[in-house]
Amino acid sequence: MILLKKPEHLRSFLEKKRAEGLNIGLVPTMGALHPGHLSLLEKAKKENDIAVCSIFVNPTQFNDSDDFKKYPVTIEQDIYLLETGGCDLLFMPSVNGIYPDGTENLRHYAIGHLETILEGKYRPGHFQGVCQVVHRLLEIIFPDKLYLGQKDYQQCMVIKKLIELTGLNEKTGCIICPTLREHDGLAMSSRNLRLNEEERNKAVLISRALKFIKDNLQRGNIMQIKNDAMKMLYQNSFKIDYVEVADAGTLQEVENWDGKQKLIALAAAFINKVRLIDNMIIN
Ligand code: PAF
Repeated sequence: MILLKKPEHLRSFLEKKRAEGLNIGLVPTMGALHPGHLSLLEKAKKENDIAVCSIFVNPTQFNDSDDFKKYPVTIEQDIYLLETGGCDLLFMPSVNGIYPDGTENLRHYAIGHLETILEGKYRPGHFQGVCQVVHRLLEIIFPDKLYLGQKDYQQCMVIKKLIELTGLNEKTGCIICPTLREHDGLAMSSRNLRLNEEERNKAVLISRALKFIKDNLQRGNIMQIKNDAMKMLYQNSFKIDYVEVADAGTLQEVENWDGKQKLIALAAAFINKVRLIDNMIIN
């Protein structure tokens, strides 16, 4: 595996590869890799000549500085996992490499309602930060395909919108890969590393609450089932940001279901200081 840190080195390396007719798949990450990331890498390898992975803990997407400081960093293990997973190239830029003009006065992206609902509502500025870093990565790497995990469902929608807004859709396709789960159903996440044993055991309740909605939802008013799912979390001392049932295409909240509309259940909740998110497609 080749490891590059400077954007200009990566750009000129990939330009040569592209001139040879090779195509490029990108798996963007913030490190603390787990099997979910590796499943994206595996798909990127299968579908492209060169699989590039980036590791960059992007400061502009953290609305909470404590969350940024505590974001797990496991770089040696990440390198080992990528190497054994067959990654061709690892890009590990510095903050200055990604934001040569600093992190103030960066572009604002018109991502519309996605910025004010669910994650956007509870993490103001978060998706602007995601757009800033992903746009920069796309401009450096120009991948043919970008691999993202469904666990960050709203982020996937935001990045698709970004690709459209920047005209990069002519060039880059977005591949959304299924969420990988632990044996008990907990969605794999880098943040799980921050949970102690007791918190880890409780964390599974987020996926159980979503599964409860998925298994019990019936057409008509769906408020009661949402409240029941929330109760499962409240009773176990979670601090809930949201448990929501929304249209799977727009993420607009749904209160009455006609039994046909494609829905997704989404949740975000804190166990003590650690905030976890998860989602499940309902139909
Ligand atoms: O999902 C993540 O790990 C990050 O939000 C991403 C897409 C790598 C951008 O920093």
